[in-house]
Amino acid sequence: MRIPEPYFTKVLKPLLFIISLLPAAYLTAGIFYDWLGANPVETIIRNLGDWTLRFLLITLAISPLRRLTGMAQLLRLRRMLGLYAFFYAVLHLVIYISLEQSFDWQEIISDILERPFITVGMLSFILLIPLAATSTTTAIRKLGKNWLRLHQLIYPIAILAILHFWWLVKADTREPLIYAVILALLLFERLLRFWLKKKLKRH
Ligand code: HEM
Repeated sequence: MRIPEPYFTKVLKPLLFIISLLPAAYLTAGIFYDWLGANPVETIIRNLGDWTLRFLLITLAISPLRRLTGMAQLLRLRRMLGLYAFFYAVLHLVIYISLEQSFDWQEIISDILERPFITVGMLSFILLIPLAATSTTTAIRKLGKNWLRLHQLIYPIAILAILHFWWLVKADTREPLIYAVILALLLFERLLRFWLKKKLKRH
């Protein structure tokens, strides 16, 4: 399947760009119209965290979706989706630092060191930085094979992000479990392909 090029570049891509901004727009409007509930800061942080994780998983789903549909154009959406994961992660962290911790750096550092769910969240965020920084066409060209190697970091990033969510909720793990199952399926598909490729090479 192939979407005609002008529709892809002039309609689908910009539409996806705008749709991806909607969660941030919804939260911004929520601040002005006061519909974020009794604890708006927590609502904002949690929503931004959810969207970071969703964009990470959507980004990871692109290549299996491409294989499933044969639609090579999908790969050209991957960079934008990955950068949206980074965008929401930055907002998530900025709101945590500013509105939740009021820039109390000592408190922030002890939170990162003492609360395991924050520690793994931070680790996940730090690992995302080199991926976002090397998402330009120039970086892809310059790094060559190393770019692919570096971007394998997306797997530990996603695992740490789910661990972050899991350790936060403590008792009711239903929601992080859904994300964990999706990630497990995405990882399993890759492992299976890797294993089959190796086996075929041997024969
Ligand atoms: C890639 C990195 C990250 C991802 C994917 C992520 C994802 C999430 C998710 C899914 C939630 C739970 C949302 C819900 O309850 O529905 C969450 C909550 C939270 N995250 Fe993150 N996070 C990341 C990084 C960070 C970092 C770096 C910090 C702070 C240093 C942080 C601090 C928090 C806090 C404070 C909460 C809410 C806790 C509460 O409501 O009491 N996260 N995050």
